[in-house]
Amino acid sequence: MAKIGFIGIGKLGLDCAEVFATKHEVRGYDIYPRTSDSVKVCDIAELVKESDWIFIAVPTPHAEGYDGSVPSSHMEPRDFGHEAVIDAINKVNANATSPKKVVLISTVLPGTTRRKFITLLDPKHEFCYNPYLIAMGSVKWDMTNPEMVIIGTEDGSLTGVAGELIDLYKTIMDNDPRYEVGTWDECESIKIFYNTFISAKVGLVNMIQDFALKIGHIDVDVVTNALARSTMRIMGPKYMTAGMGDAGACHPRDNIALRWLAKEYKVGYDLFDTVMHAREIQAKNLAEFLINQADEHALPIVIHGKAYKPDVEYCIGSYSTLVGHYVKEAGYKVNYLDPLADDPEDVISTLSGPVVVLWAHNRKITYEYTGNQEDTKPYAKIPNGSVIVDPWRKLTDSNDITVIHYGNTRT
Ligand SMILES: NC(=O)c1ccc[n+]([C@@H]2O[C@H](COP(=O)([O-])OP(=O)(O)OC[C@H]3O[C@@H](n4cnc5c(N)ncnc54)[C@H](O)[C@@H]3O)[C@@H](O)[C@H]2O)c1
Repeated sequence: MAKIGFIGIGKLGLDCAEVFATKHEVRGYDIYPRTSDSVKVCDIAELVKESDWIFIAVPTPHAEGYDGSVPSSHMEPRDFGHEAVIDAINKVNANATSPKKVVLISTVLPGTTRRKFITLLDPKHEFCYNPYLIAMGSVKWDMTNPEMVIIGTEDGSLTGVAGELIDLYKTIMDNDPRYEVGTWDECESIKIFYNTFISAKVGLVNMIQDFALKIGHIDVDVVTNALARSTMRIMGPKYMTAGMGDAGACHPRDNIALRWLAKEYKVGYDLFDTVMHAREIQAKNLAEFLINQADEHALPIVIHGKAYKPDVEYCIGSYSTLVGHYVKEAGYKVNYLDPLADDPEDVISTLSGPVVVLWAHNRKITYEYTGNQEDTKPYAKIPNGSVIVDPWRKLTDSNDITVIHYGNTRT
């Protein structure tokens, strides 16, 4: 049994600490009160004293407006904030009386660890940069079934604590993942450019969706499914369904922050801006489609799902609110149906008459990879006479409700 401490037991850290607690003795410290059945929540002095491993999972926040839930490509690029990581490192230094194995999980842009953190950590401690490819709503499954575990060391070699960290992970894995070892800077890059590839992929399939709408006689799924099966030259089938844009607490904001990196290092172009700008225009196109339906049928607009995906409450980086932004900008009112949304503004729980609905959430498409095959049920009864715009093209017409498959212009 290893003795593990987690500094920062929020959305990511608490679930990850609880996964470790199934096999190990785990403590957690947070500046906000937190509770857990399996992790001992304690003060920082006890955590540092009693733990051999110290995982840091504190926030690296983006500035207000830089999460992707509203347009940001017109704004000045900015890096993430690093105060909480620096505070956590200082607390380890101040409380440790023996050498510790310190593992930083928090997302940072390439070059940050070497430039900003490592000089602060007392050299008696060992250090790894170990970012997670984990998503909200499936944190524990993702933690024990990762595609890869990313472990960064100073020179990129599998020395000392890196090998021990792999042995520690082997005690909790349900699958047999790849262990990718590189320099701190390479591992910062693996994590954040992984997200860029996903955002770019979603941006490309949604671009095909836009062309399907403009050209006609095209079902976007026929095109993207053929491309997804083209494994000789194009990658695997994940993120190959056109629909809502890339969203959430990580992907949009990571690309938005990478605009800062592109500028800082004067690379001469900004691919991240292009990807995020396309995402915004795709949202605007979808908003205009909703508005046209609303005008045609003289019905109000409702977005089914405000959180950035089903089964979570978080509206950070939500594509629903980005679409909603453009609906409002055009002078139309928008309401959201969502039983969980942590942003209660504009959220309703019932519908009193027919509406144009954007079917933003699709549970099966979001969580199918974890084995969850369940479809999203309506969050309220959809009144007869309503029009549902389904960007996932899965719903079927019923007698009194019209379903439009956004992205399929075959007659
Ligand atoms: N949430 C995700 O899906 C996810 C996935 C991969 C990576 N990440 C990264 O992990 C990091 C944490 O993300 P999160 O979603 O858990 O954030 P969060 O805000 O939900 O949790 C962070 C926790 O750290 C605590 N905290 C803040 N400052 C602290 C300090 N100085 N000392 C101790 N505790 C402190 C907060 O109270 C909070 O409970 C971020 O860098 C994020 O980018 C998150």
